Amino acid sequence: MKKLAVFASGNGSNYEAIAAACAGGVLDAEVAVLVCDHTDAYAIQRAAKFGTPVFAFCPKDYASKAEYEAEIVSLLDSKGIDLVCLAGYMRIIGDVLLKAYSGKIINIHPSLLPAFRGAHAVEQAVEYGVKVYGITIHWVDQTLDGGKIIAQEAFHYDGNDPEEVHRIGQVIEHKLYIETINKILCER
Ligand code: GAR
Repeated sequence: MKKLAVFASGNGSNYEAIAAACAGGVLDAEVAVLVCDHTDAYAIQRAAKFGTPVFAFCPKDYASKAEYEAEIVSLLDSKGIDLVCLAGYMRIIGDVLLKAYSGKIINIHPSLLPAFRGAHAVEQAVEYGVKVYGITIHWVDQTLDGGKIIAQEAFHYDGNDPEEVHRIGQVIEHKLYIETINKILCER
């Protein structure tokens, strides 16, 4: 069975969708670890429900990004991780992790990339008056929400409520992330 690592910083609804798909046999995979850069992230509570092992750390406890990423790489290696899924992990991946897991890290983002990168994509898109929103899943490189696109799904919305866009977008995210992970794992 393929092994996934999911990285999250907060809520963790994408983690939960992936974990539930694994538990229900929709994905022939296991979430072998949830990595969190906030020790109080709600995602950690969700992980308890599924019995997913958690590595929660505080970046400030390390001298550098290279140092905590080296620890993460050892952990992923020890678990034999096949694919790393960033799911609301609000940190740029550094050289140490990128080199060790080259071609094995994907991210989900709530915009039609390359438009609206960063942490407030939906709010910026609403502010801009966007009419066609979307979700992107892409390979991860060293830039913010950068890397070759794997999958996108668009939807129309002609209002000005970012919360509503988030709600619509998250339903799509949960479905699209599972379909995309499934496709990648089947090709390996
Ligand atoms: C998701 O909407 C994801 O697309 C976004 O964070 C949210 C996490 O939700 N990621 C980014 O903005 C990456 N730049 P979740 O914690 O409920 O899965």
